[in-house]
Amino acid sequence: MHRALITGGTAGIGAAFARAFAGRGTALVLVARNPERLAETAAQFRAEHGVEVETIVADLSDREAQQRVADRLESSVDPVDVFVNNAGFSVKASLLDPDLSQHDLGFEVMVRAVLKLGGAAGRGMSERGRGWIINVGSVSALVTQNNYSAIKAWVGNYSESLGVQLHGTGVQVTALMPGWVRTEFHSRAGIKGSSIPGVLWLDADRLVEDCLRDVARGKPVSIPSKRWKLIAAVLRTTPRGIVARLSAVLSHRRSREK
Ligand SMILES: NC(=O)c1ccc[n+]([C@@H]2O[C@H](COP(=O)([O-])OP(=O)(O)OC[C@H]3O[C@@H](n4cnc5c(N)ncnc54)[C@H](OP(=O)(O)O)[C@@H]3O)[C@@H](O)[C@H]2O)c1
Repeated sequence: MHRALITGGTAGIGAAFARAFAGRGTALVLVARNPERLAETAAQFRAEHGVEVETIVADLSDREAQQRVADRLESSVDPVDVFVNNAGFSVKASLLDPDLSQHDLGFEVMVRAVLKLGGAAGRGMSERGRGWIINVGSVSALVTQNNYSAIKAWVGNYSESLGVQLHGTGVQVTALMPGWVRTEFHSRAGIKGSSIPGVLWLDADRLVEDCLRDVARGKPVSIPSKRWKLIAAVLRTTPRGIVARLSAVLSHRRSREK
């Protein structure tokens, strides 16, 4: 693969994808909001790996910014052959909250931008007859805690559907479903994470290497680590009433975190 575009490529899982591709000599296009951090991250990858790094300052909650990134994905100049649809954050607002601003932000970045950018990448790549699209969902999709669970369930179904539509074009589509990963995700959302057992935390670099192995094997869904594969298998086969009770316990424990 020659060039990878990663949304949210300056921190956490996105930065781990950027490291993994830079280490393989793949040029990068990094997308995030913070211009200084983008410039620093790009300089670091150029210095450490000698790869070309382009940056796009874009807030993916903004539709004009979504369009700029979509145009880059569809461009035939220095074409992108790997797209990691990754930028995201927690949406903790109650489903009963009359103020929908947090929900709207989640829909723009983790639904509309994911759809818009996935479509643009799919068009460009299918025309060239090759490419990888990795949509970052979550194991949260299998529980029923809040709008974040619902949004990530959409991402998983969307990703598999996109794979069906691109079947036979040479474009591989994989939904990455991480369990809990040590990144800035939880601190940004004010989640301490103290109720999460240590053994369940994943390392972002290891997660990405496992995911890339699954993508290379043509898997539509990647759930890195034996622990989380087992948890996902149990959640998928457990009666939904029990999953609902478990989801309530998880939400209650999180609200009492010290
Ligand atoms: N960490 C976990 O336990 C976990 C588990 C399952 C799934 N996930 C998913 O993994 C993905 C990455 O999360 P992470 O844990 O790596 O989070 P993170 O460490 O907080 O990194 C988030 C990245 O996204 C960028 N970003 C955030 N909002 C953006 C926006 N509106 N427009 C453009 N870029 C934006 C951030 O840069 P700027 O702030 O500069 O924009 C940063 O580069 C998310 O989709 C998340 O839902 C995470």
